[in-house]
Amino acid sequence: MDTPGDMSALAALAPVVPVLTIERQADAVPLAQALVRGGLRVLEITLRTGVALEALRAIASEVPDAFVGAGTVLNARQLDQARQAGARFAVSPGCTPGLATAAAASGLPFLPGVQTVSEAMMLAERGFSLLKFFPADAAGGLGWLKAVAPPLAGLRFCPTGGIGPDNAPAYLSLANVACVGGSWVAPQDAVAVQDWTRIERLAAAAASLKRP
Ligand code: 3PG
Repeated sequence: MDTPGDMSALAALAPVVPVLTIERQADAVPLAQALVRGGLRVLEITLRTGVALEALRAIASEVPDAFVGAGTVLNARQLDQARQAGARFAVSPGCTPGLATAAAASGLPFLPGVQTVSEAMMLAERGFSLLKFFPADAAGGLGWLKAVAPPLAGLRFCPTGGIGPDNAPAYLSLANVACVGGSWVAPQDAVAVQDWTRIERLAAAAASLKRP
């Protein structure tokens, strides 16, 4: 059991967490259904569009096999809005003391973003042991994760940002990587033409990636 909130149990459900930026409300449910059919059940909806909360609410109520959460959560207010919309977890690109406090108090599983060892230490001190490493590829990628494994032995990461089918296996082969996040399983051009078959296929390939 991870603390605060059981983020580790969610990360164990699939090797890849799709990062979804939904522009049209009508896409939300069929997109989530395609990903779940492909085997990816933990879905992150970024709070970057006008329909994000409504999309999250629809998936939470109409796709029972999905564990839907909110991404790009920047403050306590958004965390609360996400929880009220039915989010089962929340993800942030970085973190502030205020957001960490609000997340711990909410009881909602929370995946806070870090880019440095000091940020990771600050969150570990507050009881978070699974962290989003963002933006993974731009901030040091595999080399960073390998280098921090010995000193940050108690921590695991969900690297996100710049990850795709070519480099996901290398990330997932690291012992301190619990899962990876990325948008590649739901390309915007496929969503635009509602090509759910292609997205299901991409999800199935991602779901079959192995972890140690
Ligand atoms: C994001 O916040 O947009 C995610 O990190 C996704 O990044 P990606 O598009 O590089 O997968």
